[in-house]
Amino acid sequence: MRRSSGGKGSEMGFGVASLNLFLHLLLIQLAHGREFTSDNYLRLPSSNIGDEVEDDFSAQMMVESEEHEKENNGHFQAHSLSHMDQTDPNIMVFFTMNDLKVSKTMPIYFPKNDPSTTPPRLLHRDEASSIPFSSKELPNLLKFFSFSQDSPQGRAMEDTLRQCENRPIKGENKLCATSLESMLDFTREAFGWVDFSVVTTTYLTNLSTSFQNYTILEVPKEILAPKMVACHTMPYPYAVYYCHYQESENKVYKILLGGETGDKVEAVAVCHMDTSQWSRNHVSFQVLKIKPGTLPVCHFFAAENLVWIPTSE
Ligand SMILES: *[C@@H]1O[C@H](CO)[C@@H](O)[C@H](O)[C@H]1NC(C)=O
Ligand SMILES: *[C@@H]1O[C@H](CO)[C@@H](O)[C@H](O)[C@H]1NC(C)=O
Repeated sequence: MRRSSGGKGSEMGFGVASLNLFLHLLLIQLAHGREFTSDNYLRLPSSNIGDEVEDDFSAQMMVESEEHEKENNGHFQAHSLSHMDQTDPNIMVFFTMNDLKVSKTMPIYFPKNDPSTTPPRLLHRDEASSIPFSSKELPNLLKFFSFSQDSPQGRAMEDTLRQCENRPIKGENKLCATSLESMLDFTREAFGWVDFSVVTTTYLTNLSTSFQNYTILEVPKEILAPKMVACHTMPYPYAVYYCHYQESENKVYKILLGGETGDKVEAVAVCHMDTSQWSRNHVSFQVLKIKPGTLPVCHFFAAENLVWIPTSE
């Protein structure tokens, strides 16, 4: 395994030859010590379960799925938009490039890792392909995982399947990856046959709270990445990543943040340079109080998301 320049623990570069090793390590990292029991199929926030599942879910999708509501196929979009009121801390991840300077302070939401819940396990492709992943199969899947349709888990599964089955918007490619192998295949397809690496947000301390004011401590570092594939975890009994990329220009940054409680985060953020095609209703425009196509829209990634970038030589 080769480290990319400037890489910390959160940045792993690899070539095709070392793919197996990487797979192995990531699978160990993600699956180690986790039993595939119904207790920890689905990671749920500990309090106020029903609402938060949906909030987390919607926020995550609204952050990255530009203008899906344009598609007009959905209950989900309408639902999440009405859900996203501007005081919801989950959506406090947006900023503009004007904010990208040392000493800038802004409130940011980073979901806390709850050590009492284990993240869902990432399946091997063989395992994943033996379980249907389709809303047509929802009744069987609910039975298989022992969740009732009305439970928060059941509703989350339904939402995830529906979101995964939505057609991508114009210019977007997407895949819901149910195994690391399928995520890597998708990424390889996006980048062509070049090395690539993954960058993630790293919490340098255990976060004392999910939502607080953070100050940019150092000059933000741009990670030169002509392309990127962002993969977001979705609530499901096993690990499912909603991966997507678009053709328009993005800039990727690593930003060292200090929280007012003393927490430290090495955050990965992306700036979407061209938002002219986004829906006017996109939640970021509401948060930032700007209009499509005016300023680039940037947002932070939660630690559990994966941002794949081609590795420059
Ligand atoms: C975070 O908390 C865990 C468990 O409570 C502990 O083992 C670990 O050392 C802590 N890490 C930091 C950076 O404080
Ligand atoms: C951030 O700081 C401002 C100004 O001090 C304060 O009004 C706001 O409540 C703080 N936000 C959070 C999330 O702590």
